[in-house]
Amino acid sequence: MAILMTPELAQPDTCLRIGDFTPKTNLFLSPIARFCDLPFRLVARSCGGIGLACTDLLSPHGLLKENDKSMYLAATCPEDEPLCMQLFGEDPELMAKAAQWAEAHGAVVIDINMGCPADKVVKKDGGVALMRRPEAATRIAQAIVEAVKVPVTAKMRLGFDACQQNSPQLARMLADVGIQLITVHGRTGAQRFGGDVDRSGIAAVVEAVADIPVLGNGDIKSPQDAKEMIDSTGCAGVMIGRRALSDPWIFRDTHAYLTTGTIPEPPTFDQRVELVIRHFKLLVEYRGPRRATMDMRQRISWYARMLPKTKSLKQNMNRIGSPEEFYEVIGQYRATVAGST
Ligand SMILES: Cc1cc2nc3c(=O)[nH]c(=O)nc-3n(C[C@H](O)[C@H](O)[C@H](O)COP(=O)(O)O)c2cc1C
Repeated sequence: MAILMTPELAQPDTCLRIGDFTPKTNLFLSPIARFCDLPFRLVARSCGGIGLACTDLLSPHGLLKENDKSMYLAATCPEDEPLCMQLFGEDPELMAKAAQWAEAHGAVVIDINMGCPADKVVKKDGGVALMRRPEAATRIAQAIVEAVKVPVTAKMRLGFDACQQNSPQLARMLADVGIQLITVHGRTGAQRFGGDVDRSGIAAVVEAVADIPVLGNGDIKSPQDAKEMIDSTGCAGVMIGRRALSDPWIFRDTHAYLTTGTIPEPPTFDQRVELVIRHFKLLVEYRGPRRATMDMRQRISWYARMLPKTKSLKQNMNRIGSPEEFYEVIGQYRATVAGST
């Protein structure tokens, strides 16, 4: 079992290792169900700075049956490297088989979801429910570690709820059976996305598993936030989720800030619009025109956060029914904003 981390942030390119795998940066793209599919990962990677990107949570049943939904969620290609595939579930044998499937289909890291608070996952004892059953969680981890050659990681919260904040103890148990990196979202499962991120809770995990890297996660919205997370918790790197949906350049900017202390010029209006168009083209390529159109209706509100004068863009995009209408709406928006500046 490998691993290590030095506190030397001046060279983050070389300071984080996950077993035999050394990511180029210590900045990871979070799994975000329904959003972190192949088209989005390709778009986000094209902006630079990502050390490792993760799929959305994947069902072991779905992977092993190779059903359409799971095959779409696990789809990858050479430009999508390096890739982590995240599994959720509670059956060690099934999870181990799914991990072997993931390893055979392009995953260089396998992550176990121990943080999802969604009812349908928790009801089946998966996601954050595993934090209530640390022995069961550890059995799953051990089964996967024994089944694959690639490194195995786990993503958790501070605990199931305020009364059961056992992330340091669980992280230790997982590290002892060969888990090579822990990501901690600094909230409990019961908090879902409410309340503040508790960085001291993340620091406690860092202390508990000094022999493997820990990633801090939660509410990182700027390079400065990432640096504060690292400085205040001692974590080896960060995982960024929601901010990447509106600003995929966050990884490039954060990497520059951590290594040089400066943040590059922000992308221009045209570059942001071009990125939305590129994303749409990839959605059409991988999902087909109808689903791409539906998908972009949802995604535009995230991109709109970083664009000016988006009221009519959001309204019109919400009504698009075909790729032609997408191009018409984005073209009109571009011309209107360009004409008003
Ligand atoms: C819509 C949505 C879907 C998510 N799906 C997953 C998931 O599939 N697996 C997972 O481990 N975390 C999932 N998360 C949690 C994120 O990975 C991340 O831990 C959380 O959003 C906090 O980070 P952020 O503030 O940078 O977004 C999801 C979060 C959101 C908002």
